[in-house]
Amino acid sequence: MQTTLSLLLQNMSEKNAILLTHSLNVAKLCTIMAKNLGMDEEFYYTAGLLHDVGKLLVPNALLDKSITIGKEELEILKSHSKWGAEILRLLGLEQFSTIALLHHQDTADLPLSVQIVSVADKFEAMTSLWRQYKKPVTAKEAIDELWRMQIFHPTVIEALAIAQMELITKKEN
Ligand SMILES: [Fe+2]
Ligand SMILES: [Fe+2]
Repeated sequence: MQTTLSLLLQNMSEKNAILLTHSLNVAKLCTIMAKNLGMDEEFYYTAGLLHDVGKLLVPNALLDKSITIGKEELEILKSHSKWGAEILRLLGLEQFSTIALLHHQDTADLPLSVQIVSVADKFEAMTSLWRQYKKPVTAKEAIDELWRMQIFHPTVIEALAIAQMELITKKEN
């Protein structure tokens, strides 16, 4: 698995720097959340790292924040979830494919594993300086927005809130 993982990471870094940074940040948040929830840290690190792997198949122009994209292009961008799930399945990493497939599905019945990666993903995207289409928001505003959505389990949002604080403290030290 390590070789496949390194290859995918290398591909992501060659493809798009923002994609790599986003994926690494999501992976870090997921790992701390998993640690605090008594779950498998390594699994969630990898799940975070690979949730957007389908974006390897999306043209860079569509991943670039500086352009406004049309309906058809938006469909291509949205396809990264199903493409990611398929890539992972083909590479024998099917244990991560449900997360890749469902991480943009905003419904209340998501499995816990998907919820963990999804809140970390949304938080990272909302607060990132490279945020697409909108200005980044503060950590507090992003967490408020996650509560407002009413689809995530309170434990998961609280775990995210703690994880982002831990990450900031780590950076400052
Ligand atoms: Fe995504
Ligand atoms: Fe993402």
